[in-house]
This record gives sequence, structure tokens and C-alpha cells, in this order.
Amino acid sequence: MDTYKQLPNNVNNKLNCSTCHLNEGRVAKAAPYVGMNVVYPKYRSRNAKINTIEDRINGCFQRSMNGQPLPTNSVPMQAIVSYMNFLSQNIKNKNDLQDNTGFVTINKELVPNADNGKTLYVQHCASCHQLDGQGLYPNNTYMFPAIAGSQSFNDGAGMARTYTAAAFIKGNMPLGQEGMLTEQQAVDIAYYFSHLERPIFANKADDWPKGGAPKDVRR
Ligand code: HEC
Ligand code: HEC
Repeated sequence: MDTYKQLPNNVNNKLNCSTCHLNEGRVAKAAPYVGMNVVYPKYRSRNAKINTIEDRINGCFQRSMNGQPLPTNSVPMQAIVSYMNFLSQNIKNKNDLQDNTGFVTINKELVPNADNGKTLYVQHCASCHQLDGQGLYPNNTYMFPAIAGSQSFNDGAGMARTYTAAAFIKGNMPLGQEGMLTEQQAVDIAYYFSHLERPIFANKADDWPKGGAPKDVRR
């Protein structure tokens, strides 16, 4: 809940894990942590390896937090994994996870319209995340997180991909009015804000070493 202040050596922006994994990682449509104990270790085509839960968490440190990985055996990494295990106490196997798909599904054939996305962003998002997307941090406190600019996630993050961002915002934004956007509107807005200026992830070219990269991956 308080990641960037607690781990300044590992986080280079002003986001917390819970900025995206909403409500302490317990929201069905915002990639909940419940069940990570039975999902990982898991093969991921992004690095063409079996990933442990620590690998997966470090993926978010390096991309979503635009930062540095934590050593597997470090106290903060083990604390994060313990918390996920605590949330997963009742999950014994994958059958217990039927409703946990992470995000709502989005039709990836929908073609984004960036101009419409900008208009909708101004209407539905800018009041909180600001016109430039840099959020609001009055007196250095966290109020509305940056969705663009130097304090946001980098372009190697899942949230920088149009259809992943669309799935997040369709299920969760505008905060307090979630569900009001159509799939097409979510895709339009997602394309617009995910392509605003943000930090660059240096090693993108090494992703999907065996091919199969989704079409919305940033190059
Ligand atoms: C900018 C938004 C964002 C932030 C901040 C963020 N994540 Fe994520 N995280 C995502 C997205 C999006 C996915 C799914 C990515 C995908 O499937 O491409 C994800 C996936 C995950 C997963 C795997 C979930 C699953 O169902 O397999 C874990 C575990 C995770 N994140 C942990 C963390 C932790 C711990 C932090 C803080 C250090 C963090 N994340 C910060 C956006 C974020
Ligand atoms: C009423 C204020 C409000 C509105 C309107 C709103 N958001 Fe958010 N948004 C938030 C808050 C607050 C969070 C973080 C929640 C937390 O930390 O618990 C958030 C989180 C996010 C995130 C997570 C990742 C990040 O980089 O910060 C994205 C992306 C996002 N909003 C996009 C949007 C989009 C797109 C819209 C318009 C469709 C929108 N929001 C409308 C308040 C708002």
C-alpha cells in the first residue's frame, strides 16, 4: 500500500502496488493477489521461462514501478509473498480460482481511435489524473496517481499495452463510476493515455525471445 515511500531504492516512480492491484490486492477485476500460491511457478512467454512468484513480482518492480528488482530472500520480498499467501489461505488448487481471471475481457479486434480517446480522457479522467496525466501529489502525499510522465510506469509495463490498460479501466475506472465505459471507449482511452510520454524500459527487445508477442506490445 505504501511502496514508493517504503522502498525508494527499488521504485523510481510514485506508484504503489495497490495503485493498480486495487483495494490491497483484493479486487476481482484488478489483478488480485488471491491464488498466486497455485498460479506460480508458471511458464510465461514474455521471458520464455518458468517464473516463480518472486520473478513475477520483480517484473512489476522493473516495469510498473520503473525500478530495480528485490533479491528473492530479502525481507521486503518475503513480506510481499507472505501477504499474498495470507490472502490465498482458502485456495488449495486451481479449481478454487474459477472467478479469478484478473481483469475483465476486452475484444482485441476493436481498433483504437486516439482522437476520441483524448476527448473521453478529458471528460472522464482528467479531473483526477490531470490533463497531462501526471496525477496529483499535494504536499508530497499520494492522492491521484500518475498515469503518464516521469512518475508513472514505463513502456515495458503491462499497463502500457492498449488492451491490458483497456481491461483495467473498463473494470475499475473512472473510480467510483466503474463499468460506465463501453469496451470501445475503454480501448480508445487506453490507447491515448498509455502512449503519453513515460519512462522507457531499456530491455524491451529481449522480451518474447521465442516470438508470439501480443500485437499491443510496445517497441
Ligand atoms: C501500473 C500498474 C501496476 C503496478 C503499480 C503494479 N502492477 Fe502488478 N500487474 C499489473 C498488470 C497490468 C498485471 C498483469 C500483466 C499482464 O498480464 O500483462 C500485473 C501482474 C502482477 C502479478 C501477477 C498476477 C497474476 O494473476 O498472474 C503480480 C503477482 C503482481 N503484478 C504484483 C505486483 C506487485 C507486488 C507490485 C508492487 C511492487 C505491482 N504488481 C505493481 C500492473 C501493475
Ligand atoms: C475520481 C477520481 C478518478 C477518476 C475520475 C479516474 N481515476 Fe484512475 N485512479 C484514481 C485513483 C485514486 C487511483 C489509484 C487507486 C488506489 O491507489 O487505490 C487510480 C488508478 C488508475 C490507474 C492505475 C495505474 C496508474 O498508472 O496510476 C490507471 C491506469 C487509471 N486510474 C486510469 C484512469 C482512466 C483512464 C480514467 C478515465 C476513464 C480514470 N482513471 C478516472 C482516481 C480516478
